Amino acid sequence: MKIAMVGSGYVGLVSGACFADFGHDVVCIDKDQSKIDRLHEGVMPIYEPGLDALVASNVASGRLTFTTDLAEGIDGAKAIFIAVGTPSRRGDGHADLSYVHAVAREVAEHVSGDAVVVTKSTVPVGTGDEVERILADSNTPFQVAVVSNPEFLREGAAIGDFKRPDRIVIGAETDFGREIMNEVYRPLFLNESPIMFTSRRSAELIKYAANAFLATKITFINEMADLCEKVGADVQDVSRGIGSDGRIGPKFLHAGPGYGGSCFPKDTLALLKTAEDYDSPVRIVEAVVKVNDSRKRAMGRKVLDAIGGMDNARGKKVALLGLTFKPDTDDMRDSPAIAVAQTLIDAGVEVSAYDPEGMELARPLLPKVHMADDPYAAIENADAVTIVTEWDAFRALDLARVKELAKAPVLVDLRNIYNPDEVRARGFDYHSIGRA
Ligand code: UDX
Repeated sequence: MKIAMVGSGYVGLVSGACFADFGHDVVCIDKDQSKIDRLHEGVMPIYEPGLDALVASNVASGRLTFTTDLAEGIDGAKAIFIAVGTPSRRGDGHADLSYVHAVAREVAEHVSGDAVVVTKSTVPVGTGDEVERILADSNTPFQVAVVSNPEFLREGAAIGDFKRPDRIVIGAETDFGREIMNEVYRPLFLNESPIMFTSRRSAELIKYAANAFLATKITFINEMADLCEKVGADVQDVSRGIGSDGRIGPKFLHAGPGYGGSCFPKDTLALLKTAEDYDSPVRIVEAVVKVNDSRKRAMGRKVLDAIGGMDNARGKKVALLGLTFKPDTDDMRDSPAIAVAQTLIDAGVEVSAYDPEGMELARPLLPKVHMADDPYAAIENADAVTIVTEWDAFRALDLARVKELAKAPVLVDLRNIYNPDEVRARGFDYHSIGRA
């Protein structure tokens, strides 16, 4: 089957390469000529483990091609995926649907046979109806079904998530739409991935509800961590203790500096806007957004406390290890590191940092932070070392060397990747999350 993927960003490129790997003929389309040129040269626009090799082998087999020409790209495609960005609209937090609408109009103009148009971008409830209206207004003579198929890919693990999903959600209103989507995902049935058919509006809401629920789980354990510090408990044990109850589940209960990234912050805000529009408030999510926002700056204050408090901070130096919102990505969007660095800089602290993949995107966001060539260069003369992102490279630091290079042996571990007893036995003043 020929599949067209409109939008060759994170979701489009990963999904396109995986569909090609499953044997479909895939054309990835993007307006950005330089992105398409680079893809032709084998250069990926994002850092995602395994993506370059997956793209290269499917390009070599002829199943994966790239173009900027939408009309040519969708010609003969049975499934046309819309995988363009839906950023937060400036000012009101609503998802900005201008790219989705523009693609729908272009598809309506050029579609050359019966096809399904699939929204893969995260779009508010009712967007499928709007796309359907745009297609209907164009008076295309072909049978075109509009289907919602949200993605649940995690950055850094996107290929595995695509190939072995917990579930595939398809929101379709017609048999034609369901039949084509069955064909699209048939290769995954061999992996016994459950496919769930539902209405288009339910599928659209499932994506937001899933992300809001996960954001809530993280925020809940983060607040428990604060309480643990006050009452003298250990959040790692609390997390394990509650997570082994099958009704709660162990995942997404790792306390840290607050969630960031391209999805949770934007999708929780967009869900609040939808709830407001329909006069059906989701107060739990309102609280989650507020608590998470304030947590990021609070983490900066935690580091200040570790170096003797705000009043003694001026002129001190802090090393930040890890800048991206999580490991195995170069993505800096809404990363807690930004708020931590800003809080320190505002208090007059000199900040040096190192990240294995994120430095390039971090530089313009953190112009006052000195970017070091490796973790140990960042640590030199620091009054405290702070682990912000749990990259594997920071899990086994040479602590003797850290102690030698730093001005003071102070370690602030915002991801709880070290054992407090071991690190303290090595002479460190160790601070972590939710472990009194
Ligand atoms: C998320 C969803 O997991 C995915 O299904 C959706 O499609 C897109 O959004 P992603 O943003 O790539 O994926 O990252 P994820 O691994 O979910 O982490 C999000 C944030 O939560 C990160 O900042 C991470 O550090 C934080 N987090 C996650 C925690 O603080 N604790 C946890 O236990 C889990």
